[in-house]
Order: sequence, then C-alpha cells, then structure tokens
Amino acid sequence: MRLPRAAQLEDWLADVAKRAGDRANRILARKGAGRTVQRGAYGSPTVYADQLAEKVIIDELPNAPIPLHLFSEEIGHVRTPGADWTLIADPIDGTRNAVRRVPFYCVSLAVGRRSLRDIELGLVRSSVTRDLWVAHKGKGAWRNGKRIRVRKFDPKEVIIAAALDYERQVPIKWHPYVHFRDMGSAALELCLVADGGIDLFLSTKHYLRIVDIAGAALCVTEAGGHLLDLQKKRLNARYDLKERISMYAVGDRRTLQVIR
Ligand code: IPD
Ligand code: CA
Repeated sequence: MRLPRAAQLEDWLADVAKRAGDRANRILARKGAGRTVQRGAYGSPTVYADQLAEKVIIDELPNAPIPLHLFSEEIGHVRTPGADWTLIADPIDGTRNAVRRVPFYCVSLAVGRRSLRDIELGLVRSSVTRDLWVAHKGKGAWRNGKRIRVRKFDPKEVIIAAALDYERQVPIKWHPYVHFRDMGSAALELCLVADGGIDLFLSTKHYLRIVDIAGAALCVTEAGGHLLDLQKKRLNARYDLKERISMYAVGDRRTLQVIR
C-alpha cells in the first residue's frame, strides 16, 4: 500500500519538525528544561523540553494531510479514528546533548504502517543547524533538497559512529585509518551515514528504540545503505517502545571488515 499525498505530508512533516525543534530550543534556553517531568511510556524519563516538543506534534496531528495515528517516544500510541498510517516521532533525539547545550540533536519523524521496514516517508531535522534529511520509499533520499548517496568503502579512511555499551568489548578492529565518533543522536548519525559523512554506525548498547531510528532509517536505505542486526541480517523493528535495538547501519557492506 503506497502512502497517499506523500508530497503534502513531507511539507507538513518539515513544518512540524521545525515547530517542535524551535519550541524545544526556546525552552532549552531557560532553566529547568532538563528536569524530569514524568516517566515516558515504558519508563524512560521525559524531560520538560521533550514534553513540550512532543506537545507540538500532538497538537499538529489534526492538521495532517491524511489521518495519522501517533506513536511517539514519550506518550506512546495515540489512536486516530479512520487512520491507516502512523506517524512515528521522536520529538528530541539527543536529549542529553540538548539539555547540556551540546549542539547535536534533532526531531525525527516517519510515516509507516506496522514496522521499520514498511516506512514510506522519513524526515529528520537538526534543531541546531536546521539541516533537513528526507527520504521517500523507492524514490531516494535528500539533504536540504540535494540528492544524497552513501560513501564507497575506502580502507584508507573509515569513520565509525556508535552508541556503544562500553562495558562490553568494542567490536572494532582498530587501525590508524579507523576513526571513531559517539555523538549522542542516533538519528543524526544515521543521516550522516546516508549522506556519506560516516561510513558505519553501530549500536551494541541494546538501548535504541524504533522512535530513535525511524526517521533516518529510510534515508540510509534510499541512499544505498543497509540496516542490519548484529547477525548482519536485514533489520526490522515493531512500533513498540519495549523493543530495544542493536544494529549496524553501513553505506557500503565492505566497511563491515572493520568489525570483529
Ligand atoms: C538517544 C540517542 C542516543 C542513543 C540513546 C538514545 P533520546 O535518544 O539516540 O544517540 O545513544 O540510546 O536514547 O533519548 O535522546 O531520544
Ligand atoms: Ca527522544
């Protein structure tokens, strides 16, 4: 089933992402933005800025070009009568960065039906640089309107981004040509894989949830990359906040040589 009114939905998502990001930024400039206000659906802490940014998305939902259920990091599922599609939202991906004024966080939005694999539209907006990544299933991926492609493997320079469990052994074959980053927003790190800045993103933390990666996942695959589980099989995930994800996102599969 193809997504109806995809172009209008893209415009609407871009507007929602801007509003949610701007709202978060206004509150982040004040004291108390990082205080925990509640436990989100399934227990992770929601800080004040997360709550306000998510409220923007909830309030905008009735204005969507098609009816949409909402599945969002803090509130969980919100059902809309007559909807066939779901908006998967992370109002702030990189909350820890945002609260500490580390300028690397974003709004992540996607539209799909049941699982990571059936997402038809993905959109990530940096709330800091305002860069906008968009992907439409079967059509491609763009950064700020310019078509993007993943980077080809070059053993002379590999950049890996990660969300690691540092108590476990890091599964990387270290080499002077292998460079490492852990930047604190999985969504933005995946977008950088899609647009060739990063060769490989790996998460062994088993902490990511579909809301963190849904917006960027389609950008990776539409830019020619691959989303894999730790057994190197094609990744999938359900719209379920209890489900935790470990993964690789790789532009060129040959880059997996650097993994032990
Ligand atoms: C976090 C970011 C981060 C990852 C954490 C996530 P949040 O999302 O994606 O990169 O390491 O596991 O929880 O909580 O800021 O939405
Ligand atoms: Ca979040």
